[in-house]
Amino acid sequence: MSGISSFTQPKLIIHGGAGSSLKGKEGADAVRKSLYAILSEVYDLLLSGLDAASAAVRCCELLEDDPRFNAGTGSVLQSDGQIRMSAALMNGVSQRFSGVINASRVKNPIQLAQFLQDSDDRVLSDIGAQELMRELQLPYYDPLTKIRLQEWLLEREGNFDRAMAGVVAERELVTEMASEAGRGTIGVVVLDSQGQIAAGTSTGGKGFERIGRVSDSAMPAGNYANARAGVSCTGIGEHIIEECLAPRIVIRTTDGLPLSQAFERSFQEADLRQRDFGAIGIAADGTIAWGKTSEVLLAAYHDGEKMADSLEMGTGTQTSSV
Ligand code: GLY
Repeated sequence: MSGISSFTQPKLIIHGGAGSSLKGKEGADAVRKSLYAILSEVYDLLLSGLDAASAAVRCCELLEDDPRFNAGTGSVLQSDGQIRMSAALMNGVSQRFSGVINASRVKNPIQLAQFLQDSDDRVLSDIGAQELMRELQLPYYDPLTKIRLQEWLLEREGNFDRAMAGVVAERELVTEMASEAGRGTIGVVVLDSQGQIAAGTSTGGKGFERIGRVSDSAMPAGNYANARAGVSCTGIGEHIIEECLAPRIVIRTTDGLPLSQAFERSFQEADLRQRDFGAIGIAADGTIAWGKTSEVLLAAYHDGEKMADSLEMGTGTQTSSV
């Protein structure tokens, strides 16, 4: 052993949901601006040596704090008008998964998931998450925004007949009511300068769901990482769970398939079953990949040379990699 650790070029990909098209170019530009600002901030931290799990948490916090996205502030309301959020963190090195399910009144659910990384009990649901908040002395926080409340009030008039809430909080969505439902959630996958991978995902759920419904985001199906690859998913949670999407892609990569092909194969299979979701991933060899069966995937990445995104990807099932 020389004692000299080698430098890996960090890679970072984040998403702000997948679903039906944004209502206008202004919406896409605003989403791109938000995603790129977060990529820039966290990529600099990665260059100064921040580890993958901490970088994943920081990205999730920034995405949770942006009211545009369906996680943390700006989360969608459930059928009873309450906000319940779920988040998970998976450290690819330790292969530890931790998360919270249906947590309320917390600003950054990902911080609870981060704390649980070192706990014997690593996934807590509603009352357990609330107890943990009390233990950590986190202040109560109301993540409700005006647009999400208006969206819920309109949906209530229609007796909640949409499958999911809008992918992002858009004023046009509320005034025009998009005909097609959207699917929000935020997520991140990181490869740090030590070659370590982590994945984080956070969501307000699919919106208008019945009380007690459990999202994929705090299950390995929606957020999974090991030493070879990491994946974060977004879209209809039931579809993600039934495909076991994140581990499906990660294990295919672990078994030797390049990440790009693991995405291609998994999305071809999902297309046959008319699934509605998207996913982002990174492999230990530095490959960044993303894919979707939904109309749009709001993903953006930093590969060390440039930032780019998936916002202009065509409709229909597609995968891509760099
Ligand atoms: N993927 C987010 C949810 O279905 O809850």
